[in-house]
Amino acid sequence: MLDKSYRPYGLDRIETASRDEIAALQTERLKWSLSHAYENVAAYRKKFDDAGVHPRDFRTLEDLGKFPFTAKQDLRDNYPFGMFAVPQEKVARIHASSGTTGKPTVVGYTLRDIETWAGVMARSIRASGGRPGMKVHVSYGYGLFTGGLGAHYGAEKLGCTVIPVSGGMTERQVSLISDFKPEIIMVTPSYMLAILDEFRAKNIDPRSCSLEIGIFGAEPWTNSMRKEIEETFDMDAVDIYGLSEVMGPGVANECVETKDGLHIWEDHFYPEIIDPVSGKVLPDGEMGELVFTSLTKEAMPVIRYRTRDLTRLLPGTARSMRRMEKVTGRSDDMMIVRGINVFPTQFEEQLLRCDGLAPHFYIELFREQRLDAVRLHVEARADHADDASRTAQAALLKSHIRNVVGIGVEVAVADPGAIERSMGKARRIVDKRPKA
Ligand code: DLL
Repeated sequence: MLDKSYRPYGLDRIETASRDEIAALQTERLKWSLSHAYENVAAYRKKFDDAGVHPRDFRTLEDLGKFPFTAKQDLRDNYPFGMFAVPQEKVARIHASSGTTGKPTVVGYTLRDIETWAGVMARSIRASGGRPGMKVHVSYGYGLFTGGLGAHYGAEKLGCTVIPVSGGMTERQVSLISDFKPEIIMVTPSYMLAILDEFRAKNIDPRSCSLEIGIFGAEPWTNSMRKEIEETFDMDAVDIYGLSEVMGPGVANECVETKDGLHIWEDHFYPEIIDPVSGKVLPDGEMGELVFTSLTKEAMPVIRYRTRDLTRLLPGTARSMRRMEKVTGRSDDMMIVRGINVFPTQFEEQLLRCDGLAPHFYIELFREQRLDAVRLHVEARADHADDASRTAQAALLKSHIRNVVGIGVEVAVADPGAIERSMGKARRIVDKRPKA
């Protein structure tokens, strides 16, 4: 774990610039980005024209609110390359995110975009405590998913030694960590737990391994999970956020010295929080849907892109740039159970309070007497696998959820190892309700 003498160094100058300087840079870059989108993407031109706005109407940051939002559907409607603002021969790379339904969302990068992305990823790894010369084990998937290659280019740019393992083959992950002795691992938090199982299966004490820093993201995870991973591995666990449409990983990252939410790299991505129903822009500090406008992206600028992620904006601490609170969930993952809004992370928090249960879970939604009901599938820890412990742990978890989350759920405690492990993003919700 980080020692008290830790001081960040080698920062980009803008990371500690004044708010005025950041705002001036954002204003200048937004002017460019709005014109670039309008002039080169038919879909943006039509949206702006329909809303009766023109890039020249943007003079100060507050004017951004006049411009229309962009949603995933706009990318789908223009599948595959209709949102690109440069000719195809200038597009150096394509990524795509599969999503759960319909066509994938396709995104493109110029060489300069890839350079920008590597820069914000290098900054993110450095904010996590990474240094040139460290070895970085990348277990995010390589391929159309942005996780693997995003982490890879950033680690290289920072001057690290990259070990491009990708996801899967969990036994091999553990032998590579044991043999190559990386200081850093970049992986989804749920896959980190699968790697942990393998450490235990091999009788290797995770605290004795070389890992000092884990950079975890691509899915929601709680501070309770951070504590669990930090104690189990004796490492610092920091949060990294991003999405393909805006760039990939590296839109925002926690600083290891504060671990108090994620600093948004505001010189490249302009954040807003809106009321998800009315679309009204909310002041900093209020909870709502996160919206991003890209400031420097060439191949695929995004203007007021609605992420569906729920969070709030907070002032900078370890850096001048604003922070976003840890994302508790996507509006898509919100369950409404007997009138109460619930996110999977709320169950994760309560699960981690039960010593006899492992941190793996999924949520089954079903219909019981015409009402929505929840069955939470969890797993006994190996040393609590007898019937009496399972019954007691199920009762304990049920009562934590009733008292803290405020809903009644069924809890099913499976054998150790029975819950399917994810190799990337965990699938938390299995909806068995009849379709309306
Ligand atoms: O997940 C990019 C990424 C890769 C981020 C590796 C971090 C690390 P997509 O597949 O497009 O891109 O999914 C983006 O994942 O809108 C959030 O809902 C969720 N997400 C990403 N990071 C976090 C995080 C990558 N730290 C979607 N906390 C986003 C919570 C996250 N949710």
